[in-house]
Amino acid sequence: TKELAVAIDGPAAAGKSTVAKLVASELAYIYIDTGAMYRALTLKVLREQIPPDDDQAISDLLAKTDMQLEQGDSGQHVLMDGEDVTEAIRSEYVTNNVSHVAKHASVRKEMVQRQRELANKRSVVMDGRDIGTHVIPDAEVKIFLKASVEERAKRRYDENVKKGFTADFEKLKEEIEQRDQIDSKREVAPLVKANDAIELDTTDLTINQVAASVLEEVSKVL
Ligand code: C5P
Repeated sequence: TKELAVAIDGPAAAGKSTVAKLVASELAYIYIDTGAMYRALTLKVLREQIPPDDDQAISDLLAKTDMQLEQGDSGQHVLMDGEDVTEAIRSEYVTNNVSHVAKHASVRKEMVQRQRELANKRSVVMDGRDIGTHVIPDAEVKIFLKASVEERAKRRYDENVKKGFTADFEKLKEEIEQRDQIDSKREVAPLVKANDAIELDTTDLTINQVAASVLEEVSKVL
């Protein structure tokens, strides 16, 4: 069969990674979580106490940071300089700082280069904010997932409760809105739907319904 690239973009907590993983596993493609790369860098920035707006220091740090996305039996693992940071990059502290780290032109330039190398071979499902617009502008399938902010906050809330964490719905909603705001307003490669992307509103859909729609789009170009 033909090898192709599937780009999935959209705002925070719209279900991108869950859908991308399902689609990748169904097609036996590689799943690449670009948000995890920005999160891993942010974790290191915070540990080294670099101010999130110091773009020079952050891009110097990125230049000497190794990142690997590894496929394990228990799902994808994120390795930063050999350390498994899969859990650590999901902390609230990282989540609330990542958009500030990700807005710098120098940082994005290097990240996009690394992501293109990963996507070079096709047969990838890649999710993020600028995949269809910048990272793989010639992707055969481009999807833009959206959902109401209430629904996205509710999904995050349920997820947190299920994991046994405490969760504050209003606070989660505010954090999601804040992150979308910074991601959409930044100068370099902001969060925006590519002209040729198919928009799916997932507010009233289940994960399986969304994955089925994406797979249907893929089957049209296979
Ligand atoms: O997808 P996730 O929520 O893990 O992404 C975390 C953050 O990383 C986003 O809010 C955004 O600031 C940044 N990001 C980005 N470009 C991407 C993927 C993520 O700027 N392609």
